[in-house]
Amino acid sequence: MQGNFYLSVIRPDLTFEVLNLFPDYVYPGKIKRVDIEVAGDATDDKQVYVELELHTMDNYLDGAKHAITRIFSETGTYVDLWLYPIDANGDSVTQGSILRGEFILSKNAMGGFWYADQITITDAVGNQRFEGVDDFGWKLFVDNPLQDTVEPEYVVNSKFITIHDNSDSYQQPVQIITAQWDVVENRAMHGHSPCYASIDPPGTGSADRYRLEAYGYGIDDNGDGFDSSDSRCHVQFTFTDYYPSGEYSFNSLTMKDEALNTKGVTFSDTAEAEAPTRFTVTTTNADDQPPELDLNVITVTAVPTNPAAPNGETQVTIRYQARDDKAGLGLVSFRLRDPQGIDHHQYHYHDNFYTLFFDGDPTAWQQYEINVLLPAGSAPGTWGLSEMHLQDKAQNFVNYDFTETIHIDRLWNFDLNGNAWEGSGESGGNTENGALLYSNNCAGCHGTGSSSSKKNRSKSAIQSAIQNNSGGMGALSSLTDAELDDLEAYLATL
Ligand code: HEC
Repeated sequence: MQGNFYLSVIRPDLTFEVLNLFPDYVYPGKIKRVDIEVAGDATDDKQVYVELELHTMDNYLDGAKHAITRIFSETGTYVDLWLYPIDANGDSVTQGSILRGEFILSKNAMGGFWYADQITITDAVGNQRFEGVDDFGWKLFVDNPLQDTVEPEYVVNSKFITIHDNSDSYQQPVQIITAQWDVVENRAMHGHSPCYASIDPPGTGSADRYRLEAYGYGIDDNGDGFDSSDSRCHVQFTFTDYYPSGEYSFNSLTMKDEALNTKGVTFSDTAEAEAPTRFTVTTTNADDQPPELDLNVITVTAVPTNPAAPNGETQVTIRYQARDDKAGLGLVSFRLRDPQGIDHHQYHYHDNFYTLFFDGDPTAWQQYEINVLLPAGSAPGTWGLSEMHLQDKAQNFVNYDFTETIHIDRLWNFDLNGNAWEGSGESGGNTENGALLYSNNCAGCHGTGSSSSKKNRSKSAIQSAIQNNSGGMGALSSLTDAELDDLEAYLATL
């Protein structure tokens, strides 16, 4: 091999070993059977059952933990379906070759054929098989004479924002921001999260803070979600005093009806579009700094659960210390990279993960412990903690990347005796200067130009000849590193 290649390595103290005499490098089996059943009368909601059978030789190696597929109607409405393994009696198991999933399709949904264009099948250790349309047979037909293909519509210029103080219920300053707008829907809105809104924080463009996103979840549900009496969407955002003060802007929304028709609207200051709704939120204790991780005290340990005959199942413990200036540590996630290069992403659900406020002193260094059980079959070899992501309770975040990319620019190939035989021509050295250095310092002993006895010699060969004072070459020890590069480049041209 020659030329450039790159190697990504993890900080050595954050690596650990997984032992496994029975590694699972086998992808889940191919799909050999698809059974689909649609139950329900034409004018009723339908119950749809999908069962897949995988070709397996050995459940442990080529079984699956789950499969997922997105099923589309001809108008592009879709359902995401998860399938989970069952045994011969239909009871759920952790890994297997028969996968089953079901969903309810509204009588208002699009009728006709629904298609799955890809099925992704994953096993317990993360090996994935992607089955495309040509790999399995699929026929799902829905008789839905009541089908509704009309999307919900946004009523132009109907959107607005309300801000109301809810500090009493929290015993702390809290403001509830509600985005609202009017909808025209011919049938019914979707029963779960029919309304979605997105708000940009002040000074957007700043890459280190997320836009705020929320769903209105229910229907006729205390002002959250869709209100059918006045056909209005309500989406609530809970702001604590740690949120930045300033001008926010409500700049996009999405609606979904029971038939799965969705409609998104983006607001902007262009001539064709409606302008975003801008509103000012005043807080007194804004937190604009991300949390901090103490890079000197992270430790990672790994213990096989079955040391006598290790099967990859490994208890991994990560300890770290973190703190924040104000709002306190919130969401934490991390990645473990296995020896095959697969990154396994996980969240750390610490005590303050879900809460609106941080319980305790957020500014004190606090020790956290993550426990991960790697499943049986996990790849043997060196794993590592490749990345950590820390977010505070005001949406500020920081990413720590523990990998380092090593760039190898290979100039020479060596034969079995260690002699260089070919250069890539990519040397950083300057051949003209090398020619000059050669004729002044070397030609006398090794011959000029193409008659040189030292063609294609590497820099390190020259260096060691100088160090060993071969034939008196020690006298050349004042040649600099750059001059040796030049000599090497020149010798490669001969
Ligand atoms: C005073 C004589 C002399 C000078 C000047 C000299 N060499 Fe050498 N060099 C030798 C002798 C003698 C050896 C050992 C025998 C051999 O390998 O040719 C040697 C060995 C080497 C070797 C290691 C053996 C090999 O073939 O890989 C390299 C490389 C080398 N010389 C390159 C150079 C370069 C480049 C210069 C100029 C910067 C240089 N030499 C200047 C005499 C000299």
